[in-house]
Amino acid sequence: IVIPACGSAYYAGCAGKYTIEKLCRIPVTTELASELRYADPLIDGHTLLIVLSQSGETADTIAAIREAQSKGAYVLSIVNVVGSTIARISDDVIYTWAGPEIAVATTKGYTTQVSVLYLLALYLGEKRGCLSREEAAKLTDDLMILPQMVQRAIDLNPQIAQLAERYKNNPSLFFIGRNVDYAVCMEGSLKLKEISYIHSEAYAAGELKHGTISHIEPGIPVITVATQANVLAKTISNMEEVKARGGMIIAVCRKGTVFAENSVDLTLEIDADLDDMLVPLPTVCALQLIAYYTSVLRGIDPDKPRNLAKAVTTE
Ligand code: AGP
Repeated sequence: IVIPACGSAYYAGCAGKYTIEKLCRIPVTTELASELRYADPLIDGHTLLIVLSQSGETADTIAAIREAQSKGAYVLSIVNVVGSTIARISDDVIYTWAGPEIAVATTKGYTTQVSVLYLLALYLGEKRGCLSREEAAKLTDDLMILPQMVQRAIDLNPQIAQLAERYKNNPSLFFIGRNVDYAVCMEGSLKLKEISYIHSEAYAAGELKHGTISHIEPGIPVITVATQANVLAKTISNMEEVKARGGMIIAVCRKGTVFAENSVDLTLEIDADLDDMLVPLPTVCALQLIAYYTSVLRGIDPDKPRNLAKAVTTE
C-alpha cells in the first residue's frame, strides 16, 4: 500500500500507516505527493494507492495519482469534497463527509481522514483474517465513542489557553514522540507553524541523540506526546534527556500517566477510554487547540493565515 498526500493529509497517512500495518500486516509507505510524482516510483499492478485529500483538488496529489495509474496501480481515494477531481479520477472513493472545511488549516479533514483509515484497516484486517471478530468488534465500539473522547480533549480548552499564554512568544517549539505519537507530533507542529508562525519541528523522540539534541537549551519548550504504552518508558527517557539540558517538558499523555518528580513542567492529560491505537485522534485535537490559542494570542486570524491557500491547485 502506498499513501501519497500533502501537508496535513500526508501526516494523516503517517498516522494511519501504523494502524493498517498493525491490523492488516501489509507494508505501507507514506509518500509526499510532490516527491512521488517525479520519483519514477516502484509501483505496479500489485500496488494499492490510498490517496488522502480534503479538497480533492491538490495538484501534486493529482499528479501522483496519474503517475501511479500509468504504472498500473489501483487507486482508492479518501476525500472530503464530493465530486472533486481526485474523487472522479480514482478507481474508488470513500468520502469523509466532514462538511465544508472553511479554515485554511484543516482540522476535521485530518481527523476524519485518520478515522476512515482506521475503518479501512479494521475491514481489511478482518477480511485478511488478521483480526478476530471480537477484536474488530472492540475496536469498532471504541470508534463509536470517539466523538465523546474528542469532546473530552476539547474540554481541555482552559488549560490549553494557559499553556499557549505561557509559550506564545517562544521563537521555537519542538514536538517529540515515538511510533504513532511521532505522526501526531508532525501534524501538531504543522498546525502551530501554519497559524501562529512560530518555528516548530517534530522529531522522532529516539532521534534526539542523533543530532537534534544540540538544539535543546535552557527554556526551550518541548511538547512530548507520550500516549503509547509500548514506547512510554523510552519516551520518558527522552524527556529526561531534554530536561537534563534545561528544556521545558510539556507532556501530552494519557490520563493517569505517572512521571518522576520534577520531570515535567506541564501536563495535558488525554482522558480517553480507548485502545492506544485510537488515542491519536483526541490527542491531535489537543495539539490543534494549542496552535489555535497560540495563533489568537499572537493576534493572528487562525482561519486565514498569511501566504496559504485553501487548496493548492497549482504546482
Ligand atoms: C492543512 O492545514 C494545510 N493547509 C495543507 O497542508 C493541506 O493539508 C495540504 O495542502 C493538502 O490539502 P488537501 O488535503 O486538500 O489535498
